[in-house]
Amino acid sequence: MPKLIVTTREGETSEVEVGDGLTVMEAIRDNGFDELLALCGGCCSCATCHVHVDPSFAERLPEMSEDEDDLLESSDHRNERSRLSCQIPLTAELDGLRVTIAPED
Ligand code: FES
Repeated sequence: MPKLIVTTREGETSEVEVGDGLTVMEAIRDNGFDELLALCGGCCSCATCHVHVDPSFAERLPEMSEDEDDLLESSDHRNERSRLSCQIPLTAELDGLRVTIAPED
């Protein structure tokens, strides 16, 4: 199972194993990180699953859709590493992915 390394807003880092076919958002939520609200449940309409992704994985991430881009634009904490975690399936290729939960808007 691929691993995901999550850093919380408080700066605590932990590693979780991610079941097949789950997105980064589901992996974070299912492992008890309450600060990632993911209010829309993953249908790309809330932006409360915002994370900053380690730049060394940038090339391997799925392309950003226009909807994701628009939603991220509404965040004060957007930067070049921003993604919505519900839009990233954690494939074997992304094993060891490092993300930091973005500050709350
Ligand atoms: S969970 Fe709502 S946009 Fe990702």
